[in-house]
Amino acid sequence: MLNNLILKTVNVNKNFFIEKIFFSNKTATIRAVDNASIELKKGEIVGLAGESGSGKTTLAKIIAGLMDYDSGEIFIDDRNIENYSRYELSKKIQMIFQDPFSSLNPKLSIGTIIKEAIKAKKNLDNIAVNVLNMVGLSSDAIQKYPHQFSGGQRQRIAIARALATEAEIIIADEPVSSLDISVQAQIMNLFFDLKKNLGLSYIIISHDLNLLSAVSDNIAIMQNGKIIEYGQSDKIMNRPDNPYTQKLISAIPVINV
Ligand SMILES: Nc1ncnc2c1ncn2[C@@H]1O[C@H](COP(=O)(O)OP(=O)(O)OP(=O)(O)O)[C@@H](O)[C@H]1O
Ligand SMILES: [Mg+2]
Repeated sequence: MLNNLILKTVNVNKNFFIEKIFFSNKTATIRAVDNASIELKKGEIVGLAGESGSGKTTLAKIIAGLMDYDSGEIFIDDRNIENYSRYELSKKIQMIFQDPFSSLNPKLSIGTIIKEAIKAKKNLDNIAVNVLNMVGLSSDAIQKYPHQFSGGQRQRIAIARALATEAEIIIADEPVSSLDISVQAQIMNLFFDLKKNLGLSYIIISHDLNLLSAVSDNIAIMQNGKIIEYGQSDKIMNRPDNPYTQKLISAIPVINV
């Protein structure tokens, strides 16, 4: 792909229609994603930020093939995602969600959870142990169940499950916001290490611009479904052009230690 791009969206649009507003029969249209174009290079982390309801999750789900869109195009490795089978897409791109409690089936052992994500027939146990080790968990996790782990550890398991599919792109939607502050940076660092060691590419959604800018190469800011600013992390954090981005950054609390 040109410029080493692994993922590209071109003018993606998604509207939601809310039928019958109170006291009227009118239908309201929500422009959840409005002409969003975004690029992700191989081995790069793009951070996606913006206020609640700005369309981040909707865009993320569309990119991961989990939600339909109205118009626009999405390319992974220069190939339109419409031309991928569901299985092919799952080998390319995986999504990690905010809540590691609800994203892991409580009735299944960690080994089964990870093995279910892998379609290969051979060496299943080896693969499961390998990915658990990669995320910093010991091999005996394989026999345990989700309730035996902390929130941070569960998020590591969700990451291990994504790694087991050998997907090259990970879309993480608020992956640390339900975790203790002390664990948040550890999980972000894990993403960073896996990027360095495995060459993975990420889109990470977070409200925390400080955390996001510490790991992201580039940052995209969304407002009302639109990507209103996009650029290198340092540039966005130190010299944002858009007034809305300036407002977001000036709202970050300064912590004096
Ligand atoms: N299934 C749906 N049906 C109707 N409207 C929806 C649906 N999903 C999202 N929306 C609306 O689309 C807009 C974008 O929502 P989205 O969840 O993508 O925002 P977000 O940026 O992820 O917000 P947050 O930071 O709170 O997670 C919002 O106005 C939301 O109410
Ligand atoms: Mg969201």
